[in-house]
Amino acid sequence: MPKFFTFLQSELMSRRIPNSLARSFRTLCLGLLSLLTPVSMLTAQDLKLGESLYQTCVACHGSEGYGNQLLNAPALAGLPASYVETQLNNFKNGIRGAHPDDQSGLQMRPMSMTLQDPQAIVDVAAYIAKFAPKEPADTLQGGDRKKGETAYALCIACHGPEAEGNELLKSPTLQYQSDWYMLAQLKKFKSGIRGTNPRDIGGMQMRPMSMTLVDEQAMKDVIAHIRHLSKLAIEEAKNK
Ligand code: HEC
Ligand code: HEC
Repeated sequence: MPKFFTFLQSELMSRRIPNSLARSFRTLCLGLLSLLTPVSMLTAQDLKLGESLYQTCVACHGSEGYGNQLLNAPALAGLPASYVETQLNNFKNGIRGAHPDDQSGLQMRPMSMTLQDPQAIVDVAAYIAKFAPKEPADTLQGGDRKKGETAYALCIACHGPEAEGNELLKSPTLQYQSDWYMLAQLKKFKSGIRGTNPRDIGGMQMRPMSMTLVDEQAMKDVIAHIRHLSKLAIEEAKNK
C-alpha cells in the first residue's frame, strides 16, 4: 500500500499537466495523498524500533502498558500516539517532571532522555498506541459518583461525555486510567507541580480545572464518576 502511494505521488509530480483545471486536481490529489501517506507509511520497521525502545519502559509500565501502582507508573495502553508524544517531549524538555516536589515525575524524566531524537519519540509512541487497553481495577474508596457527576459537567468540554478524550484539544482519554493515578495528577495540577510551566500548553489548560475541585473528597467524587462513565463506555464497545 505505501508503495502504491509513493508511486502515485511521483507520477503526479512528474507528469506535465496541460491545463489549470488538471493542475488544481493534481494539487488536490497531492494534498489528499500527503494526508494518507504518514499513516500508511508507518512501516513495520518503525514499530520494530519502537518496540526495542520500549524495552527501557517495561520495568515500570509493563510489557503491555498496563502500568504499576507500586511504582506510580500509569497505564499507557489506550493513550493516542499524539498525547504520548507530547508528554514525552514535555518530560524531555523539562516542561513536565522537573518540579522539585514532583517525585514520580522526576522518575519518569530521565527515562524520556533515553529517547535520543524526535523520531525515537514518534516510534515508541506509535508502538504504545498499538497496545490493547484494559479496564483498570478500582483502588479508591469513598467517592460519591452523584456529586462527581455535577463536577464532571465542566470536564466534558475537553474530556468528552464518556471520558473518551479529544485529540484536537489534546485532552487525553481517561477511560483506561487508574483511579489512583488520576487522583495523584489532580493533586499535582492543583498544587502547581504539573501544569505551571509556561511552555506547558496542555497542562496550563488543565490546571484551572483542577482548582474547581475543592479538596481530595471532591477529586475522589469526580474520579468515581469518570470510572462509572468509562465502565459504561467499555461495556458498550464490547457489545457492538
Ligand atoms: C522508573 C520507572 C519508569 C520507567 C522506566 C518509565 N516510566 Fe514513564 N512514567 C513513570 C512514572 C512514575 C510516571 C508518572 C509521572 C507523574 O506522576 O507525573 C510516568 C509517566 C509516563 C507518561 C505520561 C502518561 C500520562 O498519562 O500522562 C508517559 C507517556 C510515559 N511515562 C512513557 C514512558 C516511556 C515511553 C518510557 C520508556 C522510554 C517510560 N515511560 C519509562 C515511570 C517510568
Ligand atoms: C479546557 C480543557 C480541559 C478541561 C475542561 C478539563 N481538562 Fe483535564 N486535561 C486537559 C488537558 C489538555 C490535559 C493534558 C495535560 C498535559 O498535556 O499535560 C488534561 C489532563 C487531565 C488529567 C491527567 C491525565 C493523564 O493521563 O495524565 C486528568 C486526570 C484530568 N485532566 C482530569 C480532568 C477533570 C477531572 C476535569 C474536570 C474537573 C478536567 N480534566 C477538565 C484539558 C482539560
